[in-house]
Amino acid sequence: MEKIRIIGNSNLQLKGKVKISGAKNAVLPAIAACLLTGEKVRLKNVPLVKDVFSILTLMKELGAEYNIKKNSLSIEIKKIESDEASYQLVRAMRASILVLGPLLARFGKAMVALPGGCAIGSRPIDLHMHGLEKLGASISLKHGYIKAEAKKLCGKEIEFERKTVGGTENLIMAACLAHGETVLKNCSLEPEVISLCRLLAKMGAKIDGIGHETIRINGVKELGGASHEIIPDRIEAGTFLVAGALTRGNIVLTSVQPNHLHTVIEKLRYAGAKIETIKNHSLRITGSEEIMPQDVTTSPYPGFPTDMQAQFIVLMTQANGTSIITETIFDRRFSHINELLRLGANIEISGDKAKVRGKTPLSGAETIATDLRASASLVLAGLIANGETIINETEHLDRGYEKLEEKIKSLGAYIERIRK
Ligand code: EPU
Repeated sequence: MEKIRIIGNSNLQLKGKVKISGAKNAVLPAIAACLLTGEKVRLKNVPLVKDVFSILTLMKELGAEYNIKKNSLSIEIKKIESDEASYQLVRAMRASILVLGPLLARFGKAMVALPGGCAIGSRPIDLHMHGLEKLGASISLKHGYIKAEAKKLCGKEIEFERKTVGGTENLIMAACLAHGETVLKNCSLEPEVISLCRLLAKMGAKIDGIGHETIRINGVKELGGASHEIIPDRIEAGTFLVAGALTRGNIVLTSVQPNHLHTVIEKLRYAGAKIETIKNHSLRITGSEEIMPQDVTTSPYPGFPTDMQAQFIVLMTQANGTSIITETIFDRRFSHINELLRLGANIEISGDKAKVRGKTPLSGAETIATDLRASASLVLAGLIANGETIINETEHLDRGYEKLEEKIKSLGAYIERIRK
C-alpha cells in the first residue's frame, strides 16, 4: 500500500516552472475511438496515468495491439477478439463505458458491465443507453451487464435530457458509422468532446457543428487511421493554479490552453491571484497575500468544472471570509471535506452546498482519499498544513495525475511517496 507524505508549512511559497501533461479525459475517449477503425491511430501527448493503462488493458482484451513509448501511443484493432468489457475493468475505471458506442457501431454487438455507483455519486448511464436505442440498438440488462446489439445503427435526432460528457462522446462515436444523419442536441461542450470530434474528423468522420450544442453526423462506411495530439489537461493545470494561489507562490505552467481555463482563471483572479498568459501556451500565476472569499457553483463547460471543486475549497479555507461552494454535477462529491476538517478546516455541508469559513490555519494529519480530485485537494491542503500530512490510497491520485509528486517537489515542496 503506497502513501504520500508531505511536510507542509503555512509559509510555503511554490516557485518555478511546471509542464502540464495531456488530458486524461481527452485521451480515454480517443483510445476508445480507435475501435472504430482497423487502421493504426497514433496519439501524442498521452499522459502516462493509471486510467490510460486500464483502458489499454481493456483494448487489448478486445483485440488491440498497441505500442506506447514515452508519451506517444500507436494502437490498431484489425480484428475484434472479444466484445466484452468485464466488471473488473469497468469497476476500476468507469470510462470503460466509452467502448460501448464504438463496439456496437463497428462490430454490431457489445457486452459492457454496468459500472454501478461510485465515490462521487450514483452516476447512471441511462442517457448513453437511451441514445443508442434510438439509433436502433436493442439493449438488455443481464447479470450486471449491458448487452447491446444492432445489425446496423441508423441516424436519428436525439436530444440529451441533461448534459453528459461521456454520453455525448459515446453517441458521437456510434453515429460516425451509423447509416444516414444523426442530429445530437444539447451536447456537452467540454474541450475533451471537441478534441474527440477532431480526431474522428481526421479519421474520416463527417461531423458538423463541432464545439456546438447541436452536432450533425453523417455516417460513413468506414473510418481510417489518423495522428492526433491530446490537448493539455485543464484540470491538472487548474490544480497547479490553485497551488500557486494557495501558497502565494509564483508558478509558470507550460503546455496549457488558457482558453480552456477561462472560468477557473476568472475565479482565481477575483480571489486575488495575478494570472498572465505568456505566448498563448503558458500561464504565470502570482498568488496574493490576501485571498478573497468566492462563491462557486459547478456546472457543465464553460462553467466552473466539478473536477476543480475540491481543490478550490482548499483555497477558500485560506480566504478572509466565508464562501459557498455549490456542487451541481455529482450528488456525493464532498468526501474530501471530512478529511479537510481533520486538518482543521471550518466547513459545513448542507445538501449540495459547502460553507467554507476562512481563514483557518491547517495542521497536518493522516488522511484518506476516496477519489481522484479529493486526493488532489488533500495534497494541496497538505502543502500549507503545518507538519506532516499522510495521504492514504494514492491509487486514486495515480489514476489521473502524471508525476504529481515530482512536479510539486520541483516547485520547492517536501513531498514523497512511501512504499511499504
Ligand atoms: N448522468 C446521468 N445519466 C447518464 C450520464 C450522466 O444521469 O447517462 C449524470 C451523472 O450521474 C452526473 C452528470 O450526469 O451527475 C454528468 O455526468 P457526465 O456523463 O457528464 O460525466 P462523465 O462522462 O461520467 C466526465 C469526466 C469526469 C467529470 C465529468 C463532468 C471522463 C472520463 N470523466 O465524466 O471526470 O467529472 O465528465 O465534467 O471524461 C475526473 O476526471 O475526476 C472525473 C470524474
